[in-house]
Amino acid sequence: MTERWSPESWRSKPVQQVPDYPDQKALAEVEAQLATFPPLVFAGEARNLKKSLARVAAGEAFLLQGGDCAESFAEHGANNIRDFFRVLLQMAVVMTYAGAVPVVKVGRIAGQFAKPRSSPTEKIDGVELPSYRGDIVNDTAFTPEARIPNPHRQLDAYRQSAATLNLLRAFATGGFANLGSVHQWMLGFVKDSPQSRRYKELADRISEALNFMRACGLDLESHPELRATDFYTSHEALLLGYEQAFTRVDSTTGDWYATSGHFIWIGDRTRQLDHGHVEYFRGIKNPIGLKCGPSLKPDELLKLIDILNPDNEPGRLTLISRFGADKVGDHLPNLIRAVQREGRKVVWSCDPMHGNTITSTSGYKTRPFDRIIAEVRAFFAVHAAEGTHAGGIHLEMTGQDVTECIGGARAITDEDLNDRYHTVCDPRLNAEQSIDMAFLIAELLKQQRGGKSAPMPAVAGF
Ligand code: PEP
Ligand code: CO
Repeated sequence: MTERWSPESWRSKPVQQVPDYPDQKALAEVEAQLATFPPLVFAGEARNLKKSLARVAAGEAFLLQGGDCAESFAEHGANNIRDFFRVLLQMAVVMTYAGAVPVVKVGRIAGQFAKPRSSPTEKIDGVELPSYRGDIVNDTAFTPEARIPNPHRQLDAYRQSAATLNLLRAFATGGFANLGSVHQWMLGFVKDSPQSRRYKELADRISEALNFMRACGLDLESHPELRATDFYTSHEALLLGYEQAFTRVDSTTGDWYATSGHFIWIGDRTRQLDHGHVEYFRGIKNPIGLKCGPSLKPDELLKLIDILNPDNEPGRLTLISRFGADKVGDHLPNLIRAVQREGRKVVWSCDPMHGNTITSTSGYKTRPFDRIIAEVRAFFAVHAAEGTHAGGIHLEMTGQDVTECIGGARAITDEDLNDRYHTVCDPRLNAEQSIDMAFLIAELLKQQRGGKSAPMPAVAGF
């Protein structure tokens, strides 16, 4: 018999990755205060996203999920939010047009603050301190004071999430996201890109389609589908005390929803069957994600699916695989076969970032763009072989011109990493690498739907 669930039932289970807060009273006070604050999202929005994801599960749409590894307090500002949103929309237009599928847009944003760590401590020059766990917990500075988990940071993270979401909602519906402007930005990108010849053809075709629509008398500004866009937020729900404070009953259905974001996911380090994170997630009705790394066995995945999606509701569960380019073939087919055999409806999404992290010769944590691309290609190839639908992509990316991942059309080298390495956690694709990725996915989507596609040029990174 299933035990009773409540927003705090996770507290009676073992929980991984819990920050060591020295002041438990202050933590309890902050959590009590957060529980009185307005929710960030509305349950009806989460249900709409679930419906869109059900279309992805059925092979009728594609999920584009991306954003920072970790949002930071220091980098919070309108320009960063705008630049990220702009790049994500550009990617979505490329994928919608060339892939001829609706693209469901989900940001790792407006709540993506807490980070799981492989080691609880970090050692630099013989000094050992607690690891940085995201701005919602402690500070990146390598001093004993900065690394003490401070619960008041949760209040700042909430306020930053609210302000970020407010601007994103304004952009999504206020005219910024109209198809005509997104295409204009794209033309700017194509002009400046080293891959411009390859991209110009697609950009020209989109121009023609828009001109055709205008010639037919369609005013792009006056159609809600072309003037506004649906955009959703997501984050790893790691800090369960914070999540509990935002777990609210939806007055229209009587169900519990996480209202800290539309979509939340369970990380690869916190997916133990009998632990607190799985317990928390089973009770909320949002669409949710589960990261699937190399240690996840097919049997265990099926047990997790039983707990997390017992009604086999399409759109409820997105499996985000993150194996590493060289390991996809060893692990993904077995997981897909188990899920297919049991008739489970899931969205299959590919995180090509977390299994492809290396330390460069100069000591930076980086990711080679060609390995990232290789994982995406392998993900599509496995799905093609298994007769299943490659449903989505999950990226760590930014709208800024950073130098964090090596390679790409501009061939960022190990020596370049030092120029603009700004991430507070994992290395992200920069704006150009993100758009390059969108073109690659568009090609793969075209192949997936059986369309003819030009063979890929053998350029480094592609
Ligand atoms: C992440 O998405 O930032 C992350 C930590 O991923 P994973 O849980 O897959 O390692
Ligand atoms: Co990360």
